[in-house]
Amino acid sequence: MPVKQLLIFDSGVGGLSIFQEVIKRVTNINCYYLSDNAYFPYGELDENALISRLTELLQRFVEKHPVDMIVIACNSASTVALTALRAFFSIPIVGVVPAIKPANLMTTNGIIGLVATPATINREYTQKLVNEFARDKSVLKLGSTQLVKIAEQKLQGKVVDLDAIKAVFQPWLSLNNKPDTLVLGCTHFPLLKTEISECFNDQIQLVDSGEAIANRVVALLGGAKSEGKIQQKADYDAFYTLTDEKQLLLESTFLKLNFKSFSLFEA
Ligand code: DGL
Repeated sequence: MPVKQLLIFDSGVGGLSIFQEVIKRVTNINCYYLSDNAYFPYGELDENALISRLTELLQRFVEKHPVDMIVIACNSASTVALTALRAFFSIPIVGVVPAIKPANLMTTNGIIGLVATPATINREYTQKLVNEFARDKSVLKLGSTQLVKIAEQKLQGKVVDLDAIKAVFQPWLSLNNKPDTLVLGCTHFPLLKTEISECFNDQIQLVDSGEAIANRVVALLGGAKSEGKIQQKADYDAFYTLTDEKQLLLESTFLKLNFKSFSLFEA
């Protein structure tokens, strides 16, 4: 099977939670990872500004680095721009949206917590998902940029402040009837799974979209890993849009994940 080239895209390191799920399942797929840290955090951008930025940046990127598929590994971007991006590009585009549907099947007390960026929480698309897939449940919503920043700091090698994470979840931690299932509706949040679970004394089920997205990529591009098959050595290259101190601290994380380059994409 010919080697396919995938682009995984996010505002920052959140897409790495998707990247890790994808590489568990595929062979014969090389990966570009692009983080638009110049416009981070996406969860606080105006919708039209975000759509224009995504279209322009992705167009410039694929002109220079052709790909077979784009994964928008960002809920804040996917929930507003998927339709526009699919109309603009002829390349297949996979997006990530909050995992409300599986959470609806997992909850036993009927209370689901949705934690995402402020943008994703307020999107019409997100409300439609709730109406369609969890109409009979109570869905509590929490928007946090703080949690996105903590995930970035963790991957920059900084110590994670558990109290800061607890403070984010305080509105739910103080409830008598807490959610038993938490939808991690931002790709940054699976990077803090252990810490988030600890805030709830490990008495909570966490659900994200990583596995579903990875399965979708395999279904569309092929290259599923199968036992006994010799895996090729894949090429992973990471790009970012702004050189600053925080970004440079991430280099070792990318190298540990087997990226062979980590460089500026001038956009
Ligand atoms: N990782 C992103 C998401 O899934 C966005 C975080 C941000 O830039 O605000 O929403």
